Amino acid sequence: MNRLSRRTFVLGGVAAAGAVVAPLQSASAAVPYPFQLGVASGEPDASSVVLWTRLAPSPLNADGQGGMANADVAVDWQVSATSTFASLVASGTVTARYAAAHSVHVVAGGLQPDAEYYYRFRAQGHISPVGRTRTAPAAGTLGRDFVMAFASCAHYESGYYTAYRRMADDRPDLILHLGDYIYEDAATSGSLRQHAGAEIVSLADYRRRYAQYKSDPDLQAAHAIAPWLVVPDDHEVENNFAGMTRADNSPALTTAQWTARRTAAYQAYYENMPLRPANANNGNSIPLYRRVQWGQLAVFHMLDTRQFRNDQACGDGWKVCADADLATRSLPGTAQEAWLLDGLGQHLAKWDVIGQQVFFARQFDASGASNMDAWDGYRASRARIQQGWVDRGVRNPLVLTGDVHASWANNLKADYANASSPVIGTELVCTSITSGGNGTADTAIPNAATNPHLKFYSNRRGYVRTTITPAQVTADFRGVASVTEHGAAATTLKSFAILDGRPGLQSI
Ligand SMILES: [Fe+2]
Repeated sequence: MNRLSRRTFVLGGVAAAGAVVAPLQSASAAVPYPFQLGVASGEPDASSVVLWTRLAPSPLNADGQGGMANADVAVDWQVSATSTFASLVASGTVTARYAAAHSVHVVAGGLQPDAEYYYRFRAQGHISPVGRTRTAPAAGTLGRDFVMAFASCAHYESGYYTAYRRMADDRPDLILHLGDYIYEDAATSGSLRQHAGAEIVSLADYRRRYAQYKSDPDLQAAHAIAPWLVVPDDHEVENNFAGMTRADNSPALTTAQWTARRTAAYQAYYENMPLRPANANNGNSIPLYRRVQWGQLAVFHMLDTRQFRNDQACGDGWKVCADADLATRSLPGTAQEAWLLDGLGQHLAKWDVIGQQVFFARQFDASGASNMDAWDGYRASRARIQQGWVDRGVRNPLVLTGDVHASWANNLKADYANASSPVIGTELVCTSITSGGNGTADTAIPNAATNPHLKFYSNRRGYVRTTITPAQVTADFRGVASVTEHGAAATTLKSFAILDGRPGLQSI
């Protein structure tokens, strides 16, 4: 996005009658540009949106503080209906605290519903890039046709963030990120571009890792184009952890050290994401499952399937495992499962969209084994949710998924073992942004013979773009042929429609 001159910013403030903008800090040419991590917005409702930035003139500093001194800094912010900031609709000053790695989370309120806005920040005499954001439609209204894109899994070393850039090119109204926004592993020699430092454990480590990822201009473009709704998966903390149980003990940590690591991971997650202050971590837990309403058109039930799950059955991996059927097992945990079913029963919108992390539909291989880290390892929990939406008469349940580094489109079945069992919902799975490196053109559906409800597969990197109207959701699976060369085009590999009142995929 544009970097406007300081003069432009000042003129914008003057045009807004002066009184709205707090006194400026004095500009200093000696102060390096602090907006190296870009800007972001998120969590829109009908009258407000969160605006985010983090000051970090030297993002890769090992102390995680991005080159900022141990002092708090005043940050001015502005919201305008136009990208020229000819007049302001909201503005103010917020303190970027050293204790929060100089991140800010501004809840910009008093906005109009279903409206586009532009925002920017000023600190230490510098002006940030401009971000575009928008509000949700008013309660009870359907709003305009709505483009929502979603993505997951952006391992930095595996490639360039071309898919993020192509999402930005689409100018969606909303972006969902379903987890593995960062990866925790150490630098790998010989990779396309390298992680800074060893496997991340401390707060300084996590802060620096986010700063490295957020230095990427393609990721910055995706944040600057639309508000985001984010949920983490495992790699924001550590691979395949489950609740308080680690998947491995590498590096070896005591219980106290593991607790401290989780605290660091969740603190850094909050600091680096455009979340509402209510989503800040509380020690080593973070309150993230939530509903976000898009007028009467859609409601997003954003799940956290990592913090509250039972440990993976039968030691994780792909297994034939009777324990996976135990009724006592839950992936969201008891409280979140009840919260989800309660929300689904409220019929809050035309489309009930469940934004979550791991593969939802059943997928058995030829031996009957399935992925214990996914919903197949928590089958009773999945059955309670599916039957729960059937019992509550949920008209349009739509599950969105990340994690598996490939695109899938799945029909959800009341009984996956019975070919005549009705389709009772739909799942769209986005591929990775980069994880796994350059994909392949392969579209042969894995395990198709044992899972006829799985309708589409692609091994390209990319994202999913949806257009949501009262009559249907159109899903375009977007793919980029390369992530190891800059600038690949995105193409639509396949499109499906999901019709109002008729769960399941229609080929188009
Ligand atoms: Fe991943």
